[in-house]
Order: sequence, then C-alpha cells, then structure tokens
Amino acid sequence: MAKSFKYVILGGGVSAGYAAREFAKQGLKPGELAIISKEAVAPYERPALSKAYLFPESPARLPGFHVCVGSGGERLLPEWYKEKGIELILSTEIVKADLAAKSLISAAGETFNYQILIIATGSTVIRLTDFGTQGADAKNIFYLREVDDADKLYETIKAKPNAKALVVGGGYIGLELSAVLRLNNLDVTMVYPEPWCMPRLFTAGLAAFYEGYYKNKGVNIIKGTVVVGFTSNSNGEVKEVKLKDGRVLEADIVVVGVGGRPQTALFKGQVEEEKGGIKTDSFFKTSVPDVYAVGDVATFPLKLYSELRRVEHVDHSRKSAEQAVKAIKAAEEGKTVEEYDYLPYFYSRSFDLSWQFYGDNVGDTVLFGDNNPESPKPKFGSYWIKDGKVVGAFLENGTPEENKAIAKVARVQPPAQDLDQLAKEGLSFASKI
Ligand code: FDA
Ligand code: NAD
Repeated sequence: MAKSFKYVILGGGVSAGYAAREFAKQGLKPGELAIISKEAVAPYERPALSKAYLFPESPARLPGFHVCVGSGGERLLPEWYKEKGIELILSTEIVKADLAAKSLISAAGETFNYQILIIATGSTVIRLTDFGTQGADAKNIFYLREVDDADKLYETIKAKPNAKALVVGGGYIGLELSAVLRLNNLDVTMVYPEPWCMPRLFTAGLAAFYEGYYKNKGVNIIKGTVVVGFTSNSNGEVKEVKLKDGRVLEADIVVVGVGGRPQTALFKGQVEEEKGGIKTDSFFKTSVPDVYAVGDVATFPLKLYSELRRVEHVDHSRKSAEQAVKAIKAAEEGKTVEEYDYLPYFYSRSFDLSWQFYGDNVGDTVLFGDNNPESPKPKFGSYWIKDGKVVGAFLENGTPEENKAIAKVARVQPPAQDLDQLAKEGLSFASKI
C-alpha cells in the first residue's frame, strides 16, 4: 500500500533537518511531513565527520551532533520528530522518482506519494574506480560522506596504529583528513595534481602557509602528480600506491577526496538542470510544479553576482532549506517571501587552525598579515578585488568580530584602487567598513 504525505523531503542530511525545523516553526499537522533517507540515523551536522568524529580521544558521536547544533540551535533528536508528528523513514533508498505522478519508489518496492516534494539528496563522492584507476577496489581504500563511512575508517585507524596513510586529493577532505590522521599518529602523505592545495579557493600565498604548517606537523606532501594504481596483499588489502611520476609508496590506509557530484540521477530528463545541479528560482522552486530542490543539488540565482550557482557547503544547505519551506508555507496563504540573497560562506578547521571565507574568489588578490607557518599565532588573510571593488575576503584565526568584519566587506564590496595600500592596511581595512 502506498503511503501519502502532504510534504516529502527526499534525503535526510543537513538540509532535511533544517527544513524540518522550519516546517515545525511555521506550523505543521501530525502526519503531514515525511523525511525519507537512505541513512539509518536522523539528520546530523555532516561537517563533524571529517573533524571531531575521528579524534583519537573523546571523538564526537551521535546523538551529540544531530542538527541544528552546528549553528547554535536546538538538537533535534529522533524523539523531536515523533513529538512533531514528522515521519522519519530511515534506511530507505529511493530508486525511482516519477515527478509527473508525484510518487517515489524505494529499493524495497514501497511507494510514497506527495503533494509537495523537496529534493535534498546532497552529493555523492567521486570514486577512483570512476576514472578506472587500477586496483582502486582494494580493501582499506576509504571515501567519506556518511556516518557509516566514518565508522569504517575509524575502526581501521584504531586497528592499525602507526600505519602508513595516503591521502588522495588536496581539497577539503584531503586537508581535513590529513590533519586528523596525523592527530591519530599515522604516517601521512598527501598526493594531489595541482601546484598547491585547495586551488578551488586558495591563492598561492594562502596555500604556502597551510602546506608549510602541515609539513611542520609531519605531513608529507607530493604535488603535481596523480595516483595511477594500487597493489594489494593476499588478503586484498591495499599495500602500495603507484604514482604517475613513477614513484611507488607503501600504504596501509588510503583516504580519497577527489570531489563530489550532486545526486540528481533520479530526476534526469524530468526537471531542468543547470551547471550540474537542479535549476531553481530564488525560492528553490524547480521547473516542475510543487517540486523544490535545496542544498548541494540546487543551482540557484546568486543575487549578489547576478549568476546561477551551485554551492556545496553547509551554511547554504541550512539557509536554502529554510528559504524553501518559508516560500512553500507563504504560497499556501497566497503570500510571498523575499528572494534568497545569499553571501557565500565557507570555512574549515584542522589542527589548531580555523579559517573563514566570504564572497567571491575572483579578480586580483592581496595577501595580508603574518602567514609564516613558524609563527606562534599566525593571523593572515586575502582580499579578492574585481572592477575596483573588494568582492571576497579570507581570514585565518580571526576572532568572531574580525570574521564579522570580513563578511561585511564581502557583502558591501567597498572600493579599493590601491592594492599595495590594501595589503598594508590588511585587517584594519575590514574593521573600518
Ligand atoms: P547531505 O549530503 O547532507 O544529505 C543528503 C542526504 O540524502 C543523505 O542523507 C543521503 O543519504 C540522502 N540520499 C541521497 N540520495 C538518496 C536516495 N536516493 N534515497 C534516500 N536518501 C538519499 N561544509 C562546510 O561548509 N564546512 C565544513 O566543515 C564541511 N565539512 C564537511 C565534511 C564532510 C565529511 C562532508 C562530506 C561534507 C562537508 N561539508 C562541509 C559540506 C556539507 O556537509 C554539505 O554541503 C551539506 O551536507 C549538504 O547538505 P545536503 O542536505 O544538500 O546534503
Ligand atoms: P574538493 O573539490 O574540495 O577537492 C577535490 C580535490 O581532488 C582537488 O583539489 C584535487 O586536489 C583533487 N583531485 C582531483 N582529481 C584528482 C585525481 N585524479 N587524483 C588526485 N587528486 C585529484 O572535494 P573533496 O575534498 O573531495 O570534498 C567533497 C565534498 O565535500 C565537496 O562538496 C566539499 O565542498 C565538501 N566538504 C567541504 C568541507 C568544508 O567546507 N570544510 C569539508 C569536507 C568536505
């Protein structure tokens, strides 16, 4: 028998949790809302998985980091959903979506009907097997997206003290995982193809600090080459890694972070797509009536830059979910809400480091502050300047007030003609805005 709901959220990640809280805030009758997730647990703050979840001492564990603790909100335990009459349908993968018939079908063959659907399926990892890398299906090669992945990695770290770990990729996962593996006292080597880490965001000047700091912490870094194959032992466990430049490294544990891909396959041909995601308007409405898309999968109008963008970060997943629910509830009363006016915000933490970035990383760049990796308290950052205006700002080790100041700069986009002067003023330029 099919189950029917007024609202269904497909996906049980960050966006789903924040959407559920917004529904409850706006008023919800018991039985109206269901969340369908292939994960076995209620929505949680995914960023914990690459950080405190893998700490050697007192690691974070559920229920400690269910949403919405990551933004300082109430922690929504499974009981909360029960109290609100929200049905949490867990360990349930949807394998077919028929947007015309307004129905979803699970791997076990159950049918779920909805009046309004919010697609919140997030991203999936890109695998080395997708590139045909030889031997990439060996045991002890890990990816990190969901709590189950983190559990498997954690068990292996504990089972192999002093192991040699190889981290493939120099992006977010690469940098956060190298740090946490090192904290677990593993012998860590990073490999990535680009000339410096996190090229998606970092300038050469920013990256030089992080690479220097990581080296001081004992992380080996190999740049400008890729992994072409793995060999394994008689148990099928990874043993050696072959690099394109001919080098062969020993490895007992491999962690791969070579990017994510939005999970849109279920909807191919049924909904308009753009820039790899599902195209939405400023209310996260898709091209199909009564279907919304939020979080990593949404390609939405970024008003500040008059451009369609997709953002794979937690702040946007929370805010887009809230915006969609507000728009849905307003429409029911014949009202409208204001357009989404998002200021991109990314952050990361590793070792004793913590950075924040706001705005757009385009145009000329200016590095300021003390970016010497040997400094006892390094504090530095970068501005991005386009058409004579500061459009982006990055800061390592900022206080809450300083981070607020760089956010304001990115929002206000103050003029800056003299880049040398801007470099000299550094953080004090932001503090004046
Ligand atoms: P999210 O991935 O959270 O949730 C998607 C959900 O849909 C999952 O529960 C999935 O199982 C489910 N699903 C997908 N297909 C399904 C199907 N067919 N049937 C049923 N369920 C299905 N960002 C940041 O700004 N700062 C940070 O520090 C970090 N750190 C970080 C660490 C790690 C390890 C990862 C993987 C990611 C981050 N991020 C981050 C990124 C951030 O977590 C990400 O942008 C949000 O989780 C996106 O939220 P969504 O709800 O869109 O997807
Ligand atoms: P990423 O896009 O940040 O980095 C991918 C990296 O993979 C590139 O920088 C490059 O160095 C490397 N790469 C690409 N092809 C390669 C190849 N063939 N061999 C070796 N290296 C290769 O992606 P990620 O780090 O895998 O992160 C996955 C997702 O999780 C992203 O959506 C990311 O935004 C999210 N995430 C975010 C945070 C954060 O915001 N702090 C933390 C963790 C994860």
